[in-house]
Amino acid sequence: LGIRMLIWQHVELYNPNPPPNCVGYIHTNMSPMNVARNASEDARSMCYREYGTHLHLMVFELVKNSLRAVQERFMDSDEVAPPIRIIIADGIEDVTIKVSDEGGGIPRSGLPRIFTYLYSTAGISLSVEHELSDIGTMENVTMAGYGYGLPICRLYARYFGGDLQVISME
Ligand SMILES: Nc1ncnc2c1ncn2[C@@H]1O[C@H](COP(=O)(O)OP(=O)(O)OP(=O)(O)O)[C@@H](O)[C@H]1O
Ligand SMILES: [Mg+2]
Repeated sequence: LGIRMLIWQHVELYNPNPPPNCVGYIHTNMSPMNVARNASEDARSMCYREYGTHLHLMVFELVKNSLRAVQERFMDSDEVAPPIRIIIADGIEDVTIKVSDEGGGIPRSGLPRIFTYLYSTAGISLSVEHELSDIGTMENVTMAGYGYGLPICRLYARYFGGDLQVISME
């Protein structure tokens, strides 16, 4: 930290257009309040991006489901897995977001239960394996297995006046 500080200070002293009230890297008129305000705004927007946007959560959950379906279907085949498509249609009254995949659909027998909390075909292994592996910041994110992805998405969609429909084709 000390070495970096000295290097920055040295480099900044040669800055031909120094910012006002600065001697090198050192701000001689710094407002702790402004710094605190900026820092808290940054933290807030990061938190909002992470937790606040329900639309982000909904698309995230749907794409996760699609990825899993496609991956499980094509994992042992020589074919290249087909892409997941997202179409956003901006209508006069509605915005529709369609997420489609070629993962094979949901068996008819399972369809009545997909909006039930805790219904999942992922079994325990997918989530446990995931929790054991460390993949950086996604460490605690589970690919599938809780069985609340779809019901929670529909709940948010309906809460905000929309809906979530699942159309499955084998
Ligand atoms: N695009 C899809 N293609 C095939 N099956 C799907 C698809 N989306 C959902 N499913 C089926 O519906 C089930 C319920 O989905 P849901 O997202 O609610 O739970 P999950 O993905 O198993 O777990 P999680 O709560 O971690 O999302 C899945 O286990 C899967 O069997
Ligand atoms: Mg899911």
